[in-house]
Amino acid sequence: MNERVIFQSAVPLDNPYRCAGSLAAWQTEIGENVLGNSRLMLALSAGFAGPLLQPLSVEGGGFHFRGGSSTGKTTALQIAGSVWGGGGINGYVGTWRATSNGLEGIAALHCDTLLCLDEIGQIDAREAGQVAYMLSNGQGKARAGRGGEARKAAEWRVLFLSSGEISLAQKMAEDSRNRRVMAGQEVRIVDIVADAGAGMGIFEDLHGFTGPDALARHFKAAASRNYGHPSIAFLKKLVEDQSGNVERVAELMKAFQEKNMAAGADGQVSRVLARFALAAAAGELALEFNVLPWTSGDAFAAAKTCFDAWIVGRGGTDAAEDREAISVVRRFLEAHGASRFELVQGDLETPDQTIDTRVINRAGFVRVRNGEREYIFLPEAWKEVCAGMDPGRVARVLVGRSFMLTGADGKPQTKQRLPGISKSARCYVVSADILADD
Ligand SMILES: Nc1ncnc2c1ncn2[C@@H]1O[C@H](COP(=O)(O)OP(=O)(O)OP(=O)(O)O)[C@@H](O)[C@H]1O
Ligand SMILES: [Mg+2]
Repeated sequence: MNERVIFQSAVPLDNPYRCAGSLAAWQTEIGENVLGNSRLMLALSAGFAGPLLQPLSVEGGGFHFRGGSSTGKTTALQIAGSVWGGGGINGYVGTWRATSNGLEGIAALHCDTLLCLDEIGQIDAREAGQVAYMLSNGQGKARAGRGGEARKAAEWRVLFLSSGEISLAQKMAEDSRNRRVMAGQEVRIVDIVADAGAGMGIFEDLHGFTGPDALARHFKAAASRNYGHPSIAFLKKLVEDQSGNVERVAELMKAFQEKNMAAGADGQVSRVLARFALAAAAGELALEFNVLPWTSGDAFAAAKTCFDAWIVGRGGTDAAEDREAISVVRRFLEAHGASRFELVQGDLETPDQTIDTRVINRAGFVRVRNGEREYIFLPEAWKEVCAGMDPGRVARVLVGRSFMLTGADGKPQTKQRLPGISKSARCYVVSADILADD
């Protein structure tokens, strides 16, 4: 029975789950000094959330800190990473500098714990979007074995923290094919502006340090001396009463969501709110376990500040596709409004508006009605305007904002008489107001 078993992994990766220093030193040097710093507190709270994903059956995903160089983004990741481990040159923090295949292995190694990926700028723009889905959905690519048989794909559940000078959307736009960021990708990697607005980068409270630079250096040094103990202390408490604790977290999450859900907000917002709620609840649980030296409500307050920053960053609580719908039509009219529309004669009320009638590559028609310009599109041209988005949805969004004329039935298509077409045709009519209104 005393057989000694040595596990030899096929994966030549370093084990990051090491311990150094002590929990008490970690609490004074890191835990106390992050107080009042919302981004750092969110990162730390999220650091404890990984083991709760499975018992709560909530989806994985990430928080991304975006901002200029030397604002403290990597420091935030290092602090959170010190919950789980460290050692080596970069401590617990990994990098985006990997292929999607490489990241599969790394994600699997961080299943149910915390994954920290620094410098999103380093991943290939063509892979960035897919990787966002892959990390959060928890499944690697299905591959065939040597004989063509299906091999089991790698699986994981992970909450990750990321940093970079640019957002996922900006990274993806670097690809020459310029694929649009899907709303689903933005929901999976929640983009938070690193600058907390206090003129000190990511920091808001310096705790007596001479400047943000000194505090950042202190945190880096502290995280390289003390790591690994917080997660062990947290997990010990968690398993003492697993079901009771999971119930407690669920209750905390619900409280956070109820408090912060804006009325009428889109489903994407509530999904992201759930991620913030999970981090907030994990932070509160860690403080109830006396692992984080904070007082009740601290983790909630920090998560709320960051959630508000996310809402401001995305431009409100509408669905991302709704905002994108307006912006694609706006972009099209800005680029082509003067050149690709044939004037519908007869309705021109303002005589000095002369429009060149030699239209090349016509996209639609333009007329002036009640002093307002209106752009008229036939259904096929409308698809071009929508640039890959669902044309019906774009039309409905515009109707909702009164930028599109509706028929008597309230539908977006209306019958119009157009030059060169003997019968009236079903068209989309967009008011030029769309160019003016925010
Ligand atoms: N908010 C800040 N204000 C001033 N200096 C800072 C701030 N944050 C970090 N620094 C300085 O920058 C150094 C690097 O910090 P950190 O690695 O966290 O930066 P970063 O935001 O990740 O930058 P980069 O985008 O270049 O990776 C720190 O050692 C510190 O000297
Ligand atoms: Mg950095």
